[in-house]
Order: sequence, then C-alpha cells, then structure tokens
Amino acid sequence: MFSRVLIPLGAAVLTYAQSVTPIVDIGYAIHQASLLKSTNTYYNFSNIRFAAPPVGELRFQGPVDPPGNRSAGIQDGTYGPICPQIYPNWVSTGLSTTNDSSVEIHTSDDNESEDCLFLDVVVPEKIFESRNFGSGSPVMVWIYGGGYVAGDKLTGFNPVGLLDRSKQSVIYVAMNYRLGAFGFLAGPSLQTNGTANVGLLDQRFALQWVQKYIHLFGGDPNRVTVFGESAGGGSIMHQITAYGGRNGRSPFQQAISMSPGFYPLPGNYAPEVSLQQFLKAANVSTVQEARQLSSAALIQANSEVVSLAPYGSFIFGPSVDGDLIPAMPGKLLLQGSFDHKGLTFANPAIANDSAFAAAIKSWLPTASEAIVSYLATTLYPPIFDGSQDYTTMLSRVALAIGEMEIACNAGFLAQAFSGLGSRAYLFSVPPGRHGTDTPYAFYTSGPFPGVENGTLAMILQDYFTQFAVTGDPNIPGITPNFPLYGKESTVLNMNSTFISPLPDPAANPRCSWWQEALFV
Ligand SMILES: *[C@@H]1O[C@H](CO)[C@@H](O)[C@H](O)[C@H]1NC(C)=O
Ligand SMILES: *[C@@H]1O[C@H](CO)[C@@H](O)[C@H](O)[C@H]1NC(C)=O
Ligand SMILES: *[C@@H]1O[C@H](CO)[C@@H](O)[C@H](O)[C@H]1NC(C)=O
Ligand SMILES: *[C@@H]1O[C@H](CO)[C@@H](O)[C@H](O)[C@H]1NC(C)=O
Ligand SMILES: *[C@@H]1O[C@H](CO)[C@@H](O)[C@H](O)[C@H]1NC(C)=O
Ligand SMILES: *[C@@H]1O[C@H](CO)[C@@H](O)[C@H](O)[C@H]1NC(C)=O
Ligand SMILES: *[C@@H]1O[C@H](CO)[C@@H](O)[C@H](O)[C@H]1NC(C)=O
Ligand SMILES: *[C@@H]1O[C@H](CO)[C@@H](O)[C@H](O)[C@H]1NC(C)=O
Ligand SMILES: *[C@@H]1O[C@H](CO)[C@@H](O)[C@H](O)[C@H]1NC(C)=O
Repeated sequence: MFSRVLIPLGAAVLTYAQSVTPIVDIGYAIHQASLLKSTNTYYNFSNIRFAAPPVGELRFQGPVDPPGNRSAGIQDGTYGPICPQIYPNWVSTGLSTTNDSSVEIHTSDDNESEDCLFLDVVVPEKIFESRNFGSGSPVMVWIYGGGYVAGDKLTGFNPVGLLDRSKQSVIYVAMNYRLGAFGFLAGPSLQTNGTANVGLLDQRFALQWVQKYIHLFGGDPNRVTVFGESAGGGSIMHQITAYGGRNGRSPFQQAISMSPGFYPLPGNYAPEVSLQQFLKAANVSTVQEARQLSSAALIQANSEVVSLAPYGSFIFGPSVDGDLIPAMPGKLLLQGSFDHKGLTFANPAIANDSAFAAAIKSWLPTASEAIVSYLATTLYPPIFDGSQDYTTMLSRVALAIGEMEIACNAGFLAQAFSGLGSRAYLFSVPPGRHGTDTPYAFYTSGPFPGVENGTLAMILQDYFTQFAVTGDPNIPGITPNFPLYGKESTVLNMNSTFISPLPDPAANPRCSWWQEALFV
C-alpha cells in the first residue's frame, strides 16, 4: 500500500547507467541492487531484512515484522550475517570419506549472528524492466538444507546458472532461517513460554514476505514455487502440511522437494531432552533465563550440544506430531529422491546385530522393545544373501536410517499428491548420495564442482524452471518425458548416462510401516 518502486528512468539519468542500479522501496526500507552479470544481467537485491532481529525477548519466539528503517536511507545489501551454526562432529568426520557436496562447513571467521533473518531477491533485468505490466513473473524460492543445524541462503547456491537456463523467466528468492537451538527448540517446558519450530516459521514468514512484496520486483505472488534439498526438502514437506491445511492459503503454489529429510521427532520426549541439554550447557534452567544471556553464550551452548549429536542425529529439527496432512491447494508436487540416500548418515561402526538394535533404540528412544525387535528382525532382517535390498551390514544401516529420515518421505509426498499430478524423480548419478542433485540444480556451464554430466544438469534445470513457469516440467521436443507419478508409482530415474521411468523403490512395505508412525 505504501510501497512504490523508484528507478532512474529517462534520458536525464542515462549518463549514470553504468553505476546506477535499481532501487526498490519496500515501505519499511529502501534497497538498491548490485549487478550480477553472466551473458545476461540480473539485479541482486541482497540481504533484505524480512523479520526483526530475533534477539533478547524475541528468542525462541516466532518471527515478527522488522522495524522500519527508512531513515537509514538506501540499503546496499552488503550487511547480512548467516545464522549461528555448527555440524555434529560425526558429519565433519564423515565428510572426509564421503565428499558430500550438500554439506558446507563454515569456519569461525564467517560472520554468524543471531541477527540473520535476511533474504535475497535476484531478478532478471528483463523481468524487472517490465514489472509494471501484466501480472508478473514466476518466482522460485530456495530453502537450503544442512540438517536444520547449518546452512545459509547463499553459500554454494549462486542462482545465475539456473536463471540463465530459465531464459530469465523466473525470479529467485532465498532466505536464511534460524538453526539448531535457535530455530528448533521444542518440548513442553519451551511451549509454556516460547514457540516450537521457529525456524520453519521464519521460512513461512519469508514466504509471506514474498506474497506481500514480490510484485515490486516484477514477481507474481500467485506463481511461487518453493524448492529445497534435504532439510530444505523436509522443510517444504512441513510447509505443505502446516497447520494440517487449516490455516488458509499456503504462501506458495508449487513445490519441488528434493530428498525431503528430517529426523522423526514424533512426541515430547526427545525435544524436551534436547531442550534440557541446551539449557544445561548454557548454565540456566529456563528459556526465559536463556533469553537474558549473551549471544556468545548461547552460541557456545548450541555448539556444545549439536557437535556431540549421535550418528544420524542433529539433535534439533522439526518436531512433528504424526498428523501430517497434505495442505497445498490443488497443485503439483514434484519431489525427488535417490538411491542409497542414507549413506551419509550410516554409522560404519555398527558391525553386528546387537549394535544394530542398539542403534534403533537410540534413533527412536521411546519405541518399545517389540518395535525395536520388529525393525531389527522383520523390516530390516540380518540376511545378506541378496534376498533383501542390502547385502552388507553397512548398507542395511544405510537403508534403515535413510528410509526413516529421507527416502520414504519422498514417496509419501508423491503418493499424497498422486491424484493431483505429482511427479517424482530418482537421482542415481554416482555417488548417488544425499545432495548429489543440488549442484546439478545450480549448475553453470563449464566445469562445475559436483557435476559430471552438464547435459543432465541442464535437463534438471529445464524441468525445474519449466515446472515453475508452466506447472509441467516437460518441454516438448527438448526434455525426455517426465511422467506423472500416478497409481503405478512411476518415478523418472536419472543416472549419469540415461533418463528413464522406473517403479518407485520407496513404494515398499517398509515405507508403509514408517508412514503409519507406529514407532511413536
Ligand atoms: C538500518 O540501516 C542501517 C544502515 O544500513 C543499519 O546499520 C541498521 O542495522 C538497520 N537497522 C535495522 C533494524 O534494519
Ligand atoms: C549479491 O550481493 C551480495 C552483497 O554484496 C553478495 O554477498 C552476493 O554474493 C551477491 N550474490 C551473488 C549470487 O553473487
Ligand atoms: C573425494 O574427492 C576427491 C577429489 O575430488 C577424490 O580424489 C576422492 O576419490 C573422493 N573420495 C570419495 C570417497 O569419493
Ligand atoms: C565479516 O564481517 C567483517 C566486518 O563487518 C568483514 O570485514 C568481513 O569481510 C566479514 N567476513 C565474511 C566472511 O563475510
Ligand atoms: C515468559 O516469561 C517471562 C517472565 O518469566 C514473561 O515476562 C514473558 O511475558 C513470558 N512470555 C510468554 C510468551 O509467555
Ligand atoms: C557453563 O559453566 C561451565 C562451568 O563453569 C563453563 O565452563 C561454561 O563455559 C559455561 N557455559 C556458558 C555457555 O556460559
Ligand atoms: C557388536 O558390536 C558392538 C559395537 O561395535 C560391540 O561392542 C560388541 O562387542 C559386538 N558384539 C558382538 C557379539 O560381536
Ligand atoms: C542407467 O540406466 C540405464 C537404464 O535403466 C541402464 O541401462 C544403465 O546401465 C544405467 N547406467 C548406469 C551408469 O548406472
Ligand atoms: C549425460 O546425460 C545425458 C542425459 O541422460 C545423456 O544423453 C548423455 O549421454 C550423458 N553423457 C555422458 C557423457 O554420459
């Protein structure tokens, strides 16, 4: 309502064309873009504050509107720390042996701050120039992964290749969201004086920001596609089912959920234990006391708790209630998964059957002995003769934890939306592991880390951007046909040499068991 766009127009300013980039007035602040050049020109509106700094009394609470900052003048977007973060030791240790390209370890000289709720808007010049005409262009919103304890909107995710491939037909947005204890405290003691899953609420707040403001950049709030990988994909699963669909329209219309991952936290027990661990590490006994501490003390406490997470766990993450009801209003859902996706998470130290049962017990601390035994003897029996989907102890562990945390989720989504035209792909390019498809999505031509087959990367980008633009990933005559998931549970298998349909490996009795959440 109070917003308008300011942009130098007309002959008078042409002499400044080299140095003057567009300015957008979003009402509570004014932002100027920097230029991003490839063969095309993009405007990089970076680090727009979308919520108030979540510090002091606002810690462990849902995001609120940012304070007005017009008096500060034009923001150039250079200020924008990443959220405090740390990976568990088992991830950092495992990295040296897995080369997991989805994992970015930050060093201490990166700027981390609790004041991290910023988002980027990257707009193709031609969209920006025509922003006052027609209904606007489609928008793709990236939600990064990192186990809900790490990651940021920028590192590793330069959108230029994807935007080039889209023929500059979409706007790219990415937000930071709170991580670890800052974003995912939960449990009864928190909920008496605080809000659970605020990291997911940050994402949603940013999506609502897009609804309100993206028209100022030439975007159409009614054509928003969210996409994300791993914890980003898992976040999307939660955003789709948020409020069981009973809280009005979703702030997006389409989703690409790449290997949706989260650690099942079905009840109060585990979140409460994690909360108490965190408070203890901070040397306080209530969240209200924690709010009075310095940022440095809380960052230290978060680091202490997360770094010691047991294998496969990140301690903090969305706490689900087992009541995940698909909520997205009548649109496509495109989801992805790939072979052996548990491998990053498998604990090589699990060498025998009793260790396997002990591991299950640690994954699902509230599960009964009967459930543990059912998992260890019936769902994932210790039989390595080729009759199961694994032939070694390591691949048995990988399959169990992979299906629990990731692989089955993808199938749940595709099945839930199968009547609504969902599609699913299986990314089995070696090493066929967690995150392998992310560099393909952000590919720019030329040698690119994590991408062996540039043609395949461009096809994946075509599917994504065509889906964002038209709702159907297929570009007739250009891309191999991407079939509907349908009743046959067909997925599109992409390996390094070939793209072809396949029955969904996640459509199996083990996933059906996980879906019923009998382990609660
Ligand atoms: C307002 O803008 C100034 C100048 O860019 C910046 O230093 C300050 O942090 C901003 N405050 C808020 C609340 O955004
Ligand atoms: C956009 O600008 C910010 C601030 O200058 C910079 O940190 C970021 O790298 C730019 N984005 C891209 C994709 O280059
Ligand atoms: C990890 O990457 C390095 C460099 O690309 C390569 O030499 C090494 O074989 C890779 N290791 C694994 C386990 O893939
Ligand atoms: C961190 O912030 C300082 C001061 O604002 C700046 O000089 C430095 O370049 C930043 N480091 C990174 C990695 O962004
Ligand atoms: C949390 O507790 C403090 C005092 O203990 C109180 O000031 C504050 O209003 C409470 N917040 C909520 C959301 O209940
Ligand atoms: C908590 O107390 C211990 C022991 O005094 C101290 O080593 C630690 O640094 C404190 N933690 C924080 C976050 O202040
Ligand atoms: C099984 O593995 C665990 C952990 O590696 C070890 O402590 C235990 O001794 C092993 N048991 C047998 C029977 O080999
Ligand atoms: C890729 O898939 C095709 C068709 O399913 C198969 O024939 C081929 O062996 C696979 N290639 C690799 C490298 O796995
Ligand atoms: C790359 O992938 C494409 C699409 O599947 C395939 O046609 C092509 O042969 C692959 N290139 C190589 C070198 O394997």
